[in-house]
Amino acid sequence: MPTSPRLAPRLLAWFDAHRRDLPWRADRDPYRVWVSEVMLQQTTVAAAVPFFDRFVRALPDLAALAAADEQQVLKLWEGLGYYRRARHLHAAARRLAAEHGGALPDDPAVWAELPGVGRYILGAVLSQAFDRRLPIVEANSLRVLARLHGYRGDPREGAGKAWVWKAAADILPRKRVGDFNQALMELGALVCTPAKPRCGECPLKSACAANRDGTQHLIPSPKKQPEITLVDEVGVAVRRGGRVLLCRRPADAGRWQNMWEVPHAERRPGEGLDAAAVRVAAELTGLEVTPGAEVATVKHGVTRYRITLRCVEAAAPAGEFAPGFYAEGRWVAPADLADYPVSAPQRKLMTKLAHPDPQPRLF
Ligand code: ADE
Repeated sequence: MPTSPRLAPRLLAWFDAHRRDLPWRADRDPYRVWVSEVMLQQTTVAAAVPFFDRFVRALPDLAALAAADEQQVLKLWEGLGYYRRARHLHAAARRLAAEHGGALPDDPAVWAELPGVGRYILGAVLSQAFDRRLPIVEANSLRVLARLHGYRGDPREGAGKAWVWKAAADILPRKRVGDFNQALMELGALVCTPAKPRCGECPLKSACAANRDGTQHLIPSPKKQPEITLVDEVGVAVRRGGRVLLCRRPADAGRWQNMWEVPHAERRPGEGLDAAAVRVAAELTGLEVTPGAEVATVKHGVTRYRITLRCVEAAAPAGEFAPGFYAEGRWVAPADLADYPVSAPQRKLMTKLAHPDPQPRLF
């Protein structure tokens, strides 16, 4: 895969002139680089910035993260999604603090063994923090590399994936590797965009196969779209004495582990909302409830599911919460709902519960 040796200086010069001033670029602090890259793995730069600022203000270094409890870490991550990233980051910080003297080591072998550290995080952190000559591939650099080489296969899977990682390794310069990796991503974000790339402004245009052939719109080949499944769910805001029942998902739940929620589950075909609320409350919490008003509808997507969650209030004046499906249940005052780490759809629902719409006025 021959590429001109002059590509790296051109790309680095472009990066020096056009790089965005992002909070994790202020220095090469390995901890800040690590936190930022974990956030950026599934989140855009614009969305990640406020979360990054808040996270490193609360937990400014490895020791602080290792000493934090998981609920605090999840709360700081709330709204970013893919919470497994946060749990892995936290577990890895604890291991580094315990086994490596609290330092972030310049050692790929140590990083490769940490939870949540795959090829991307390994290359991103070690190249940026220590200038290790390691490649990275994510959506932006994948697009740049595929177009540069005119690669027509799918670079996300199988042989294409191996191809793009090799391309990312082959193009690395000997120095400023971290900047170079960031420059590839930055070029993908700002110039070599999915639609309407600004090829006239690209420092690599004279070497780019897609620019030469006019195939930018065909490369990379589109992602296979999963088939969407619609799901109707009922949520039950169980009330008792002005408080709402909040339940903690178990540590081995498929998603949102150890996060809190209003009990909810899929409705059965043809099942009315009230009947579903009574059944779901009994099955998930052991409580016998009397359903009341519908308080909120929240639509959200999880992987290939499009979920419509309709939430009803229900009274449960007596009876004990029974753990089983949930690890724990607490009766929480509406004003305290904001303290608990919850998923984005549950946060929308809880905002409604804490601040119900005023009753519609008829006169
Ligand atoms: N995406 C992931 N990491 C990034 C970084 N360091 N700069 C810009 N975009 C990124």
